[in-house]
Amino acid sequence: MKDAFQREKDERERMGRTVESCPFRTNYHIMPPVGWINDPNGLCQFKGEFHAYFQYSPLSVHGGGGYWGHCVSKDLLNWDYREPPLASDIPEDINGVYSGSALVEDGRMYLFYTGNVKLPGDYDYIDAGRISTQLLVESQDGQQMSAKEKLLGMEDYPQDITQHVRDPKVWKEDGVYHMVLGARARAWKEDGSRQDKGGILIYSSPDKRHWTLERELVPQKAFGYMWECPDIFRLEGHRVLSFCPQGLEAQEEKFQNIYQSGYSLLDDNENPEDTFREWDMGFDFYAPQTFETEDGRRILIGWAGVPDTERTHRNLTVENGWQHCLTLPTELSFREGQIFRMPVREIHELGWEKAETKDGGYDWRDCTLKLQVNDLKGEAFQVRLGTEENAMTIRAEGNKTEISFLNPEGEAAACGGGRGKRIGRVSGRIESLLVLVDSSIVEVFVNGGELVFTSRIYLEKPDRKLQIQGGGSSSLAVIKKA
Ligand code: FRU
Repeated sequence: MKDAFQREKDERERMGRTVESCPFRTNYHIMPPVGWINDPNGLCQFKGEFHAYFQYSPLSVHGGGGYWGHCVSKDLLNWDYREPPLASDIPEDINGVYSGSALVEDGRMYLFYTGNVKLPGDYDYIDAGRISTQLLVESQDGQQMSAKEKLLGMEDYPQDITQHVRDPKVWKEDGVYHMVLGARARAWKEDGSRQDKGGILIYSSPDKRHWTLERELVPQKAFGYMWECPDIFRLEGHRVLSFCPQGLEAQEEKFQNIYQSGYSLLDDNENPEDTFREWDMGFDFYAPQTFETEDGRRILIGWAGVPDTERTHRNLTVENGWQHCLTLPTELSFREGQIFRMPVREIHELGWEKAETKDGGYDWRDCTLKLQVNDLKGEAFQVRLGTEENAMTIRAEGNKTEISFLNPEGEAAACGGGRGKRIGRVSGRIESLLVLVDSSIVEVFVNGGELVFTSRIYLEKPDRKLQIQGGGSSSLAVIKKA
């Protein structure tokens, strides 16, 4: 791996474009050291430190997999990167060490993941040509892994399930281990044409090694054709299913991205579509995973990206040898019948300094920004990040928030890489906004996390301005970094 990696690096250096010199590197978000990142995996707190693994393609800025990356942190915001601890190196995972999760028990870390195999040949890779195996490794330090053990193979999935079965999330409840897997079930419309259905499989085990199918949850009426990255957890007495349905039809103010990511409450309604809510209304959010901290908080980290977006928008980091990052870790709470999502409290303990705006403006060139706006009472408010010609504008009024890269003529600003606009609404009126900007990523939290927007933004340093207009009381804090 090192040779190919070095060759790629030499080539970029020759062209004067390096990851290190890229102005879009972030300060507090998990990024690929080089190449591509997608889903967060194996999130956990282990022996006092936070571990985040991730789908990682160091050899290609366009993905394709091959590794789990690994980083470690004491505060969930400053991360140290380690060597990739898992690679595609056995027959069961030769085409991908796909997503999975961690379980910490008795001072050991257990990592569950999917081994992906795509047989060479003319296959559809849905009904034929793919092998999805659920695997386990153990570790005492989070870095050195035991031999890979096969837990479940194609022979263990129900008859109606296609070859798409992946992303094990494992938890322990009442002395029993449970594993939820995302799946694509074979199904047909009344006219006989194929219309597959997304769903989940839940297995249970007394010992983490022998697994029995407990439940297959595939809705009567299709809600997307495939569900990826499922996660089941309890939050303040509620049973939550988080998952990523693919194939939902876009509506004007819902399901605006190519694939969705949201949650349903499994309390007393077993049809996930009825209670489904999107986790995030921005352009760049998918495949989140949650974990519980030692102090009992439920934390969620998502991928600040979406698969298969090459045709709609771009990331302007590609030519510098890297692509995508993860979201800030957010803490979940349950209020007013839904989940609220706010950045972890550790964010406020970073070295923030109060900053004064001049006529509502501020030049943030080398800063990480925190803009808190209170007392909005539904009045019109907007903040522009960028210049008049090249900006993202965040507008809030009544119950509606919009983030937009479009100018009055409807043309898309360069800093969005082709992104247009996204809309979301709160149930009452907008009272507050928290906007966090870390170089090339913006996260907007409306009404204390009732609604969240995550988006990448690619402003060169001279264009990094901010302009506030409208109601409420705003306070700006910054962290200066050269
Ligand atoms: C979601 C996903 C997962 C899979 C992984 C492969 O983005 O497609 O279902 O395990 O990415 O990288």
